[in-house]
Amino acid sequence: MHEYFERFEQRASKRSTLRIVRNIIKPDVKEVRANELTKNSPWPQPSPMNPFELPSCVVHVPEKEIEHFIKKVVRRYVKTIQTHSFKSLTKGGSHKLARKLNDKEFCDYIFRTCFSKILSKNISPDEHRIFFDVIEDKKEYFTYNLMPLKTMKTYPDMYTEGTISLFEKKGDQLFPCAIYIKQQVVTPDEHDRWELAKLYVMQGASIILTACIHPRIHFPVDSINGITKTLIPKEHILFQLLSPHMYIQLPLNFAVQYISKSIAHGDQSEIYTPYPCGRKGFFEQVALGYRGVEGNFRYPKYSYPLSVERFETDYSIFLEKYWLCIYRFVKKIVEFIDCDSDLIRLWANSIAQYVPGFPNAQQMLKKDVLAKALTSYIHNCSVSHAVDHYTYSRIPLEHSPLRIRIPFPSPQNSTFKLDLKDVVTREDYIRHKFANLMFFKENNLTLLADVNYAFKQPELKKLVREFHADLKQTEKEMPTENYIPLSEIAASIQY
Ligand SMILES: [Fe+2]
Repeated sequence: MHEYFERFEQRASKRSTLRIVRNIIKPDVKEVRANELTKNSPWPQPSPMNPFELPSCVVHVPEKEIEHFIKKVVRRYVKTIQTHSFKSLTKGGSHKLARKLNDKEFCDYIFRTCFSKILSKNISPDEHRIFFDVIEDKKEYFTYNLMPLKTMKTYPDMYTEGTISLFEKKGDQLFPCAIYIKQQVVTPDEHDRWELAKLYVMQGASIILTACIHPRIHFPVDSINGITKTLIPKEHILFQLLSPHMYIQLPLNFAVQYISKSIAHGDQSEIYTPYPCGRKGFFEQVALGYRGVEGNFRYPKYSYPLSVERFETDYSIFLEKYWLCIYRFVKKIVEFIDCDSDLIRLWANSIAQYVPGFPNAQQMLKKDVLAKALTSYIHNCSVSHAVDHYTYSRIPLEHSPLRIRIPFPSPQNSTFKLDLKDVVTREDYIRHKFANLMFFKENNLTLLADVNYAFKQPELKKLVREFHADLKQTEKEMPTENYIPLSEIAASIQY
């Protein structure tokens, strides 16, 4: 029974003379305005902002979670602003706000961070036409398509461009060959144009990753979180398994989407709003990430994954190793859950209505489907989320400006000279720095490495100990570079 009804039952069964008198003199009608049941049932609903193009969301975030979020996260935001503002705003200007990035640095950022999620070995017919003069037979290429930025409306005097980059892969390295920008194919021998084109790609990758690709991790899973909390009793093994991975996600995601002080709303009177666009531009990118971009296979429509999401670089291998580790644990826990109970059937069918691709009750009966669905939730909210933040926040801001103030020159402008001092203003840089400290950089509250579950049974407790050991082993045996240390992976979406 919902705790609201339990509390009501307890109160209603006790006769109180004082309450009788009070109810006669001044009947309380407060409950009609704010029903506790609605306030504390985080059932999802179609997005009030854009029901057709954004994921369903949870608007009724339980009050306790909001209070906790204010205490643990909002206070940190306030402290960061208060601690760093004076120094940032009064410090002189010898520091470079945009720096030239050499081709190796450029390739490393695209190939060895979360930016690599949209690198592709496939070259579309259009891209073939664009790079016809550059592409040579028997060479291996990657393309990097940031065309969804083409439609972004920016604030005055700020620019973004839809770009496509072509890289050649030799051994374990990428080498940049050309960048398609403003209907021109720019190559490394075009010096200043090439330097500016690379900064445009870095800007585009930063916006696309943070506003279009990463939100696929944040928002669609709110329905799983909300429905699990509403339907499943706290003593149920399924609730106990997901609970540590649902921590603080709902108030955080609600704040990002609906609080006017959110970084995504772009209020220019806040010091930490770094994007070249406002709320509309930001959520258009979120919508593109969710509904997909027609005719561009790098941006597929969102569908809940029952395995690790595949990308064409080592980033995918890293993600997969942890997915399999979590799966080994979850599979054994799921043996203690009756997949065909009325409760699990209702739970699965409810989520399937709100999350595209989430298996319904019928599909849950197939072997391992519940285990895979739960694994994906845990992996999504821990490893997958944390590694994006960790790798992105370590890219120097001087190499990845979110705002660019110089329009890319037309082909007629043959005397174009790049002055790096004009690329980014001091204010742009400060905004970006605050956003990095407050939102992009990891700020861990609970960690995956020592995650604890409220299981009572000794067999389940033993499985948790084995899981902790397996996580350590997975990190030790990682065949690729460790994109994030295990000790920095948060247990849930908490920043
Ligand atoms: Fe995030």
